[in-house]
Amino acid sequence: MSLIEVPNPMPLPPFKLERYFARYEFSAQYLLCSSDCESWTVADLLALEPGADEGLKRHWLGYTESTGAPSLRAEISRIYRGIAPEQALVHSGAEEAIFLFMHAVLQPGDHAIVHWPCYQSLFEVAKSLGCDVSFWEARAENGWALDLDDLKRMLRPDTRAVVVNTPHNPTGYLMPRPDFLALNNLCRERGIILFSDEVYRELEYDPADRLPSACEINPGAVSLGVMSKSYGLAGLRIGWIATRNADIYARMAALKDYTTICSSAPSEYLAELALRHRERIIGRNMEIIRANLARLNAFFAAHADRFAWTRPHAGPIAFPRLLDGDVETFCDELVHESGVLLLPGAMYDHPGNHFRIGFARRNMPEALARLEEFLK
Ligand SMILES: Cc1ncc(COP(=O)(O)O)c(C=O)c1O
Repeated sequence: MSLIEVPNPMPLPPFKLERYFARYEFSAQYLLCSSDCESWTVADLLALEPGADEGLKRHWLGYTESTGAPSLRAEISRIYRGIAPEQALVHSGAEEAIFLFMHAVLQPGDHAIVHWPCYQSLFEVAKSLGCDVSFWEARAENGWALDLDDLKRMLRPDTRAVVVNTPHNPTGYLMPRPDFLALNNLCRERGIILFSDEVYRELEYDPADRLPSACEINPGAVSLGVMSKSYGLAGLRIGWIATRNADIYARMAALKDYTTICSSAPSEYLAELALRHRERIIGRNMEIIRANLARLNAFFAAHADRFAWTRPHAGPIAFPRLLDGDVETFCDELVHESGVLLLPGAMYDHPGNHFRIGFARRNMPEALARLEEFLK
């Protein structure tokens, strides 16, 4: 096998959102900005299937296959149409997959276009590799929509990759199907790799709005999935990419030998079990989201003088704006006085006085009541 070319990385700055969570995640009483759905216990998962607990006890704790246990990859491939198990590559969370994708595909000087605001690693890793990153901006005044004409204006002959995240963190924006198809066609025609972060897929409020996965409709695209968000199983640290692009698959697989080699065997077992019952898991998570979203809509209607509320279309988070006062001070006072954690937009380097709110946790009504009390 030939050498794997990896650019000399430049320093990575701190991951603002992760550092903010590190300060509060295990001390604040109410996390009102989590992006993952309410989690499950191991016992909850094992109860999904007769014999699952015995199976876990017997599960072998040796190394697993580097690309992911074949039975897990088979289960992952069932999420998609036209994707074979060999086209799914398992990672330790979505984060490892983002890191390896960028290292496998990008070279210094390459141009990359990234949907913004976004989860920091989606642009920061590309920057650290010496790429020229342009931001495809989602604007609040357009309901966080992405404008394809903006993208066309940004494309350059050396554009190597476009990175998009829909359903979107932090706004809850879901791209309309015609736009998503046009985006895929555009990238395909120009030979640009589309990296499609789909970690909130299956949480569309209207299932008819569910987009095809980029890997299904675009042979050059790479789709990102994970157990953490829609399924609420972040502690498993199981993510994956699905792609028909054999070259990128091979490069990422070769790099994985230098990061985690293979995933945790018990996690693979539990992820596979959960995916066999994913409709039930998503069903429970959507129940929580729907009930909480109704409360949030009422809350923001009652406090229209304090907040601007753009309704999300999918996922467990949204990005409202505080109308008066500085949002960082607001969040800081809220967490210290009421124990309720919101995430200020500065964690995305977004200047618009927005904050992220999360609503896929069961204790969200209590957290919202605390916020309401704080406002008084
Ligand atoms: C859009 C997006 N992509 C990737 C990730 C990383 O997921 P994980 O923590 O499961 O690796 C996150 C986590 O917040 C995310 O919001």
